[in-house]
Amino acid sequence: MNKSLNVRIKDIVLRTPLITSSGTSGSRDEINLLVNRKSILESLGAFVTKGVTINESLGNKEPRIVEVRSGILNSIGLQNKGVKRFFEEDIPELRKFEIPIIVNISAGSVNEFGTLSAMIKDLDKNNTVSALEINVSCPNIKKGGAAFGADPRLVEQIVKEVKSSVQNTLCIITKLSPNVSDITQIAIAAIQGGTDALSMINTLRGMAIDTDRKKPILGNQVGGLSGPCIKPVGVYMVYECFKKIPECRNKKIPIIGIGGISNYFDVLEYILAGATATGIGTQWFINTAIFEEILKDMTDYLNNTNETIENLVGKAHNSF
Ligand SMILES: Cc1cc2nc3c(=O)[nH]c(=O)nc-3n(C[C@H](O)[C@H](O)[C@H](O)COP(=O)(O)O)c2cc1C
Repeated sequence: MNKSLNVRIKDIVLRTPLITSSGTSGSRDEINLLVNRKSILESLGAFVTKGVTINESLGNKEPRIVEVRSGILNSIGLQNKGVKRFFEEDIPELRKFEIPIIVNISAGSVNEFGTLSAMIKDLDKNNTVSALEINVSCPNIKKGGAAFGADPRLVEQIVKEVKSSVQNTLCIITKLSPNVSDITQIAIAAIQGGTDALSMINTLRGMAIDTDRKKPILGNQVGGLSGPCIKPVGVYMVYECFKKIPECRNKKIPIIGIGGISNYFDVLEYILAGATATGIGTQWFINTAIFEEILKDMTDYLNNTNETIENLVGKAHNSF
């Protein structure tokens, strides 16, 4: 493996800057697909799980996914089996991947975030989990989601609560919502709460209406927009945080850029804007060879240009 592809998120070494993005590759079938295709795993720096909650959640009413121009709207609603079954059934499978495992967590209150994180620390007997990614941004659940992600005070409290519940033993990543007026204010709050890294962006709130039936298509009516159409928003938000927040600029708090990545140039855009690593979601539904293809193109690019990832991070800011 080309050494220059290694990146670090706090103490975690990722052998490539490519990671899955939460909710888009977390089911058992997809896990098995990965196990059977070693080259996918070899392309990944880390695996991020679907959002886990304390109790099982059946998710939202169907239909839950609709294709729109250059993207999809989803309203899965955090369907998952609950943290205990997740540790019994999925973690032993994920352990076989032999790459860092990042568990995406979701909860309905600050206290619940603390309880869930403490349960994970307790259940993770073999130290399979490298990091927790706090979903303060999911726009699909009525109890929390969007409300947390838009309130800097709550974001700071959640991060503090999660950090103290795991007694600083796990890397904490805070995943930010784009459904805010100034993402840098939320990023600063997460840093004040003690986050070790930031990931951005989650889906943008959106809706599609069936013109024949004259009603919203999604069972939940509202959903989250992802895919190529959101990439300029994600790149902008990474750029803003890198530009305006000293801890991002000096790379003390690394950023994982997510949103609409479809090829290597999209990854490069995020890195130039200030991301250290990148998450890929919706494109994985279209092309299961996406990680291998991007890795090959990235390796060729680095070899042909004599560049390193480290040197490329935030380079788009140097021209001003
Ligand atoms: C079907 C689906 C389920 C998702 N579930 C989660 C989730 O459980 N937790 C979370 O933080 N983000 C979730 N996301 C958001 C993605 O991780 C990602 O931030 C977003 O889709 C943008 O990236 P993309 O354009 O590459 O898909 C989900 C996205 C999709 C499409």
